[in-house]
Amino acid sequence: MGQIIAVTNLKGGIGKTTTVVNLSAGLALKGARVLLVDVDAQGNLAMALGVKPRRTLYEVLVDGARITDCLTPARPNLDLLAADESLLAAQPTIARRPDWPRVLDQALRPARNSYDFIFIDCGGSLTVLNLNALYAANDVVIPTTIEPFSIKGLEMQVLQIARVKGGSGVLRAIVPTMYDSRTRQSVELIEQLRTRYGSLVTAPIRVNVRLSESSAQGQSIYEYDPRSRGAIDYALLVEHLSNLWGFRPSESAVPAPVFPPREASTPVQPAALAVAPPPQTDPIIAGAGSFLSATCPNCGHALQRATVAGYRVAYCNHCRYRRQELLSGVRR
Ligand SMILES: Nc1ncnc2c1ncn2[C@@H]1O[C@H](COP(=O)(O)OP(=O)(O)O)[C@@H](O)[C@H]1O
Ligand SMILES: [Mg+2]
Repeated sequence: MGQIIAVTNLKGGIGKTTTVVNLSAGLALKGARVLLVDVDAQGNLAMALGVKPRRTLYEVLVDGARITDCLTPARPNLDLLAADESLLAAQPTIARRPDWPRVLDQALRPARNSYDFIFIDCGGSLTVLNLNALYAANDVVIPTTIEPFSIKGLEMQVLQIARVKGGSGVLRAIVPTMYDSRTRQSVELIEQLRTRYGSLVTAPIRVNVRLSESSAQGQSIYEYDPRSRGAIDYALLVEHLSNLWGFRPSESAVPAPVFPPREASTPVQPAALAVAPPPQTDPIIAGAGSFLSATCPNCGHALQRATVAGYRVAYCNHCRYRRQELLSGVRR
């Protein structure tokens, strides 16, 4: 049975949808079968994936349509149960039902065996459907920006999860987004987060305009600019979480991604991924040098290695040093 993961934060505009798109697209490229469920009436997931759904979650929840009849295929291994503004009208109807907290859970049940992961992209407020998402989920991922107010909001979100789930054990990861290491405040706040939540805090997703451009183009960051910082950061998150979830690609998986050059503007098909030439050298890529070293140059601990989304990545679990190699070079 697939994992159901709510991606939630009571604040809007902090990178939930961006995280859902790029985490799920990365898992789908690794061969996982992934379903995305949008419970936000803004319907951003369909736009961010560049698809035009004919049917939506409203029909499943209110009209009793079969979930399998309302899915929109978005990429190989990646389906979407989309939302639109009709979902606003669904909420009062759902709230009147005696079983209101479990409506989404019940609706997702017939699909659970067909997917390895079902991600629910929540809206940024306390709605009936966001609560439904928490009831349905067995895992929760919280993206958060690194600002004083958002960290306060994070505490409220963790309390809400504890209330709904009877504890915060379902909290799998806190993902710092739009991180800018040049500001002292960001560095200090992320340290505070790590002190408070320990290893739940993942490596941060750095601020990167290519991420907002990719959403506007209806592409994942791996399609839009696989050499960007955003692609590298999300690819690392994919690797980290797929390890936590114990996901192993099946033999029938989509081939490991080898991305075409930056000019590519249309969604990349698996066959193209397998044969496309790797990108040419980039001016900001330096020599490979110490990539081959087995120990962290900062703290001397053993480096971990992973191959994700066209990169070889070496990273240190102790001090969070990381280094990634693309074809003939390395960039931080
Ligand atoms: N790491 C990032 N760097 C730069 N822009 C980002 C980043 N993550 C998200 N964005 C942009 O910020 C805006 C809000 O992100 P979004 O994922 O829609 O947030 P939410 O779903 O929480 O409302 C979008 O325009 C998105 O493209
Ligand atoms: Mg969103």
